Amino acid sequence: MASLLVTGGAGFIGSNFVHYWLRSHPGDSVTVLDSLTYAGNLASLEPARAEQRFRFIHGDILDRECVDRILSDHSIDTIVHLAAESHVDRSIHGPGAFIQANLVGTYTLLEAARTCWLKDGSPGNGRFHHVSTDEVYGSLGPEDPAFDEDTSYAPNSPYSASKAGSDHLVRAYHHTYGLEVTTSNCSNNYGPYQFPEKLIPLMLVNALHGRALPIYGDGMNVRDWLFVEDHCRGIEAVLLHGRSGRTYCIGGNTERTNMEIVRQLCLHLDERLGSEPSLQERFPDCPASSGSTCGELVSFVKDRPGHDRRYAIDATRIEGELGFRPVESFESGLALTIDWYLRNESWWRGIMDGSYRQWIDTNYGS
Ligand code: NAD
Ligand code: TYD
Repeated sequence: MASLLVTGGAGFIGSNFVHYWLRSHPGDSVTVLDSLTYAGNLASLEPARAEQRFRFIHGDILDRECVDRILSDHSIDTIVHLAAESHVDRSIHGPGAFIQANLVGTYTLLEAARTCWLKDGSPGNGRFHHVSTDEVYGSLGPEDPAFDEDTSYAPNSPYSASKAGSDHLVRAYHHTYGLEVTTSNCSNNYGPYQFPEKLIPLMLVNALHGRALPIYGDGMNVRDWLFVEDHCRGIEAVLLHGRSGRTYCIGGNTERTNMEIVRQLCLHLDERLGSEPSLQERFPDCPASSGSTCGELVSFVKDRPGHDRRYAIDATRIEGELGFRPVESFESGLALTIDWYLRNESWWRGIMDGSYRQWIDTNYGS
């Protein structure tokens, strides 16, 4: 029976991971440590909060005393580290918070784990899994081979640079102190509980309200998309069978331009709202509710500074070594995601407050 600490468990991937783990590992207990930044939401953990083997602790990974207490009070043997500032646009406008949370926060956790687990100098008392991103590898040209675990680091945004630094720290704690660590570098996720500042939920919520769909630049930037529950399965494979000290790239084998993503999302909404009168009543401003198409909302806006052109993942290692492959195709994952947002309107309404919209309008108004 394992005792997990999930940092950032009230965020998008963290909350999905908590639900997935509790469902799939009935003997394990899960403690979430989250400071509840704008991106953290207790409502995302609602289904787990009824479970006795779940506990939520409101705190900061930068608070060493708090982390020390959690590790010892709850006999934590596994840390799944997801807490981070995660939005590239925000890192461009305010990099400081990213250095603190992503770099200093990871250092604080590593120090706490080292002190708690390597007390007598012998390794093996715990595992630190670090959840990272493919963005640490930089940007690919159209014909470049996909990123793999041997690709050189070349981060381009303050976000990816802070994640790259945290990856290096994790590696160093393994080599220098013998801490048991694994790292996964994953491509773009989408699915339930994603804050509507990221591409897919932002476009979805805007389309439902008949608001513009702001495409940065020419819309030809490419990302590799993975349904969030598949990412959770990938982390699980690494936790259960991954080799200590090793890094695993996780991807969806689904390269799409941003325009393709938005077009597919619009077509899906046209179909759902076009055929369901109850949805037309709930979202009267959506063009699909009055026989038109959401595609007419597409609007090209100024590009993100330093916008990476293409990300792609070669997932040969995790597939060959650990037998991991995504379950969902992009089409099935997108349908599940849209359905979830339509069924959970109160979740996203709760976080779409005025300050968030103001931030978007100030920085990305067309
Ligand atoms: P998110 O922004 O939705 O959630 C981050 C969570 O961390 C929030 O709940 C926030 O309150 C919490 N947090 C932030 N700073 C904290 C601190 N100092 N102490 C405690 N909690 C803190 O992010 P996400 O999309 O769920 O990403 C989770 C992790 O996965 C991040 O490390 C990110 O770099 C990585 N990742 C994300 C993606 C993606 O597509 N979203 C892809 C690959 C990797
Ligand atoms: P995002 O979801 O912010 O993830 P990341 O920057 O980590 O890849 O953005 C995904 C892609 O969508 C990226 O190329 C930027 C683009 N994008 C837009 O064109 N418009 C938007 O409003 C947003 C949020 C993103």
